Amino acid sequence: MKDQYNRTIDYVRISLTDRCNLNCIYCNPKQQNLCSKKASLPLSDEQIVRLCGLFYQLGVRKVKLTGGEPLLRDNVPDLIRSLKETCHMQSVTITTNGVYLKQQLAALVQAGLDGVNISLDTLDEKHFTKITGYPFLHQVLEGIHSAMNVPDLNVKINCVPFEPYQNDLIRLAALARDRNLSVRFIELMPIGTAAGQKGMTKQQILGLLEAEYGPAVLYEKRLGNGPAEYYSFSGFQGKIGFISAISHKFCKDCNRIRLTADGQLKTCLQYEAGTDLRKAMEQHATDEELLSLISEAVRRKQKEHQFWSDQKACGLEKHSMAQIGG
Ligand code: GTP
Ligand code: 5AD
Repeated sequence: MKDQYNRTIDYVRISLTDRCNLNCIYCNPKQQNLCSKKASLPLSDEQIVRLCGLFYQLGVRKVKLTGGEPLLRDNVPDLIRSLKETCHMQSVTITTNGVYLKQQLAALVQAGLDGVNISLDTLDEKHFTKITGYPFLHQVLEGIHSAMNVPDLNVKINCVPFEPYQNDLIRLAALARDRNLSVRFIELMPIGTAAGQKGMTKQQILGLLEAEYGPAVLYEKRLGNGPAEYYSFSGFQGKIGFISAISHKFCKDCNRIRLTADGQLKTCLQYEAGTDLRKAMEQHATDEELLSLISEAVRRKQKEHQFWSDQKACGLEKHSMAQIGG
């Protein structure tokens, strides 16, 4: 399906729950009561599968499962199986904090999972606990290790870098030197509780990495479905990626829509307004009615994200990343 700017939309990011078992400094779900079961009621598996069947009819072929922490939801493998077998999705991947990955990985892979992105901002135990609020680095590393042992599973690390922890980035990047995985550095987006915080730019990180590992060479081919651009470093098995929403807008190539845990269809990460697909389903909308709601929302998709300071006044997003699904 195409939007008004002729962009082809073939990728949906689905948040499986608002809840998270970590409390990262830039997302802060505890402050919004998203660590307990009181978080908003998510769509059921049946509702997600119904909507994905309709997304497929409109041309969507790739699904990213996110959260909150998606692995806090029950029966994720069954959902993955349905997305692949019933909805015919070509690619189903997940973005997780990795804490429960090791236990669940075999079932996820068995169900057809194509890739896993694991959030990891540092390899330093003390820093990890400071950033996430919990001493779970060991579990995350075990999750990464297990994922690396699965043949053909695409593994990527997501790091949101901060200046006080910048010395850790060299070690983190070395994961891509020593293993066939990508390490991606994400510029902090001032969304929700991250508004007012300052991350690091692509240029700063590239400078640090080149000083240590030599010149970076832009990798021209597309890897994955998201906005990352990748570089090769000599002697590295994997790639180094950058998601630079602040310094380099990537909206002209945007291929995605989002479904929040409570059933809002959002056509841009940054804008508050969504289309309430759960309400429509609860009011017994037919498939034709849902298809037309989705197509109309996609047609009106915003041209680009805006990171203004007065988000509320501008109708921009004030929920946290845990609520939007990253
Ligand atoms: P793959 O590369 O295919 O795995 O997808 P991805 O990079 O989209 O997945 P992931 O869930 O790991 O997201 C990485 C980062 O990209 C997160 O910080 C997202 O918020 C950010 N991101 C993904 N899509 C968009 C987008 O449309 N706009 C903005 N501003 N950020 C996005
Ligand atoms: N800016 C950029 N990335 C963020 N993430 C969470 N909050 C932000 C933010 N404000 C990242 C997480 C996760 C991915 C889905 O989004 O680290 O890896």
